[in-house]
Amino acid sequence: MRLNWSDVTPKPLWLNRRKLMTGGAALLAAPAFAKIEASKSAYSTDEEPNSLEDITSYNNFYEFGTGKEDPATYAGALTVDPWSIVIDGLVDKPGTYDLADVVKGQPLEERIYRFRCVEAWSMVVPWIGFQLSGLLDRVGVQPSAKFVAFETLVRPEEMPGVASPFIDWPYREGLRLDEAMHPLTILATGLYGEEMPKQNGAPIRLVVPWKYGFKSIKSIVRLSLVDKMPPTTWNMLQPQEYGFYSNVNPNVDHPRWSQASERRIGSGLFGGRQDTLMFNGYEAEVAGLYARMDLTKDY
Ligand code: MTE
Repeated sequence: MRLNWSDVTPKPLWLNRRKLMTGGAALLAAPAFAKIEASKSAYSTDEEPNSLEDITSYNNFYEFGTGKEDPATYAGALTVDPWSIVIDGLVDKPGTYDLADVVKGQPLEERIYRFRCVEAWSMVVPWIGFQLSGLLDRVGVQPSAKFVAFETLVRPEEMPGVASPFIDWPYREGLRLDEAMHPLTILATGLYGEEMPKQNGAPIRLVVPWKYGFKSIKSIVRLSLVDKMPPTTWNMLQPQEYGFYSNVNPNVDHPRWSQASERRIGSGLFGGRQDTLMFNGYEAEVAGLYARMDLTKDY
């Protein structure tokens, strides 16, 4: 019999584990979980998280291929330790930082977020991470910085997908500085209480829950503070389809399909279609960032 993730971590165990952790007895009762200790976040949705199996078996990570199963099949070969991140551009303390230094002192939280892919499917993921603003404050953002640019690792020996020239590697993303500083924006180092699975962007990836999933760049090796809007992978590929902002917006369709509704992964063939919410349900928190913008133009 082939074991899959849901066999390894059945839901009741996960629920139990959360009870243990909130009870404060986690360290004594279950040393294996001490690996990532995180407090609960007020920013979490109370929607039911997808199973670990859903979250780790249906992925987009083109460095490992374009199929949804490719990341789970091939990402195991990725070396994630040692890992360092270059932080450069308009910062007071540029440098090449070890992952441990990047994470050091940042309060880790469990953030259960809705995650809406531009392909009109969605999940709910219990991330473990910290606010990007905490890291930016530590490296010192200079007043002339307006955007943050991110890059993913390119390592052809371990990433079969980068042999394909369809993307101009590295995978790139960017945020306006106020988006990057927003408390909902996190760098995630794990999910479901444990280290980040490789197919989900180990060892550290961005999560911006009010934007389409492609903004949430994986396996980050560079973060640059810049004064101009940086080039981003999907905008470079198809500018008419993917803008820089990429805010989840049910009122602005993709040129080839509607964005008004979404299919919740794991909810079966016949149910699971639901209306997409403005800013993916985070409107109260983030609408102010775009108050004076025409979102049909700045899509
Ligand atoms: N980051 C990199 N480096 N490469 C990618 O192909 N795909 C994006 C985003 N980040 C991608 C990436 C897309 S299209 C989505 S929907 C999410 O990752 C998927 O995240 P998940 O696999 O954790 O659900």
